[in-house]
Amino acid sequence: MEKVYIENISNFSGTEVTIKGWLYNKRSSGKLWFLLIRDGTGMIQAVVSKGDVDEESFNNCEAITQESSLMVKGLVNPDKRAPGGYELHTKKLEIIQIAEDYPITPKEHGTTFLMDHRHLWLRSSRQYAILRVRQEIIKACRDYLDGEGFVLLDTPIFTPAACEGTTTLFETDYFGSKAYLTQSGQLYNEANAMAFGKVYCFGPTFRAEKSKTRRHLTEFWMVEPEVAFFDLNDNMDLAEEMVIYVVQQVLKNKSEELKTLERDTTFLEKVSKPFPRITYDEAAEILKDKGVDFEWGNDFGGTDETIISENFEKPVFIHHFPSKMKAFYMKRDPENENLALGCDLIAPEGYGEIIGGGQREDNLETIERRLEEDKLPRESFEWYIDLRKYGTVPHSGFGMGIERAVSWICKLPHVRETIPFPRMLYRITP
Ligand code: 4AD
Ligand code: MG
Repeated sequence: MEKVYIENISNFSGTEVTIKGWLYNKRSSGKLWFLLIRDGTGMIQAVVSKGDVDEESFNNCEAITQESSLMVKGLVNPDKRAPGGYELHTKKLEIIQIAEDYPITPKEHGTTFLMDHRHLWLRSSRQYAILRVRQEIIKACRDYLDGEGFVLLDTPIFTPAACEGTTTLFETDYFGSKAYLTQSGQLYNEANAMAFGKVYCFGPTFRAEKSKTRRHLTEFWMVEPEVAFFDLNDNMDLAEEMVIYVVQQVLKNKSEELKTLERDTTFLEKVSKPFPRITYDEAAEILKDKGVDFEWGNDFGGTDETIISENFEKPVFIHHFPSKMKAFYMKRDPENENLALGCDLIAPEGYGEIIGGGQREDNLETIERRLEEDKLPRESFEWYIDLRKYGTVPHSGFGMGIERAVSWICKLPHVRETIPFPRMLYRITP
């Protein structure tokens, strides 16, 4: 008798199998017990009939509690009414351990309580669905870029300098000198792109964000492609194609999970070419028309992004930002020094920015001047300056925040559920 995973149960119809897992829920009607069992790959209902099992197995049904670990042997029976299409006609039920007073019960719990028990909350079917979608999104990003010939090159986590401004750096001691946790792999990606043409990195990034919003984590994962000889438009084309591929893969491969999450997929199905592309000025105009008190030159806040996105059914690019609000590395519009060749992608349904990127400054003197203007320590950037000395070319790239993408695609109220153990302003445990 084989130990099988619930996800493969359809291959074992009519045969006897063993399943090892945990009790999700149970109910009884006299001589019958219905046990809902999960094993990490899926759920199945085990039907235990008094006449079919030994006395101990039947008594175990009475004794077993939510999240107790168990082993069950039985016959796989097709049943149209059962979720997943199969039931287990139980022959034997062994308890591995009784879970006493499992804190998360089927009743409603508050968010703080659930977050304090995140290590256990992960076992719920909702979290299961979200995190499987997360995996699909990550896989789709990788598959897309790998398929397009991008080389995956991991960038360092310990860095000597800031990429995205000095105000959100996490500082750490590095054998007596200062090091910072990376905010973005971009600068190293630029070096990698000059060596390999099209590259990407995918890893954790860190920002000491004091923002307590539904979109901010202090540790989040980012996929960042960077391409030599790409301009701003090429960059938007790439981001558009990657996002379309990601959404299609989730719709195709994670439909059950989206159902569990009661995700209405109408808007996801509309994610197709072309995404509207508007300038910062046009976006500001939209805000003005809607009566928002918005000052030119400021960054869009979360609510601003939501309002802008309401004008569109698809993700929308905003490009050509005021240069003052953008990082030192962003190329200025050759026609207008006050504008930077950046592009952000704003998700529909009020989810705000999921991608940030743009064309990079490729001129040696300009990058040297910018570093000075931004008071960044030149010695930490010598290597970066070298990239403009030795065969500089136009190049562009972007970063997509995985948690923002998961939040949007699953339509979650908060980014905290998009990663197993979220790190936020007021939370570093469990
Ligand atoms: O717009 P950002 O800051 O861009 C960069 O870091 C570029 N250096 C990337 C590049 O061009 N290679 O961040 C990119 C994305 C955002 O659009 C957002 O999705 C996500 O990273 N992000 C966050 N996600 C969760 N919590 C936070 N605190 C985030 N900050 C940025
Ligand atoms: Mg940004």
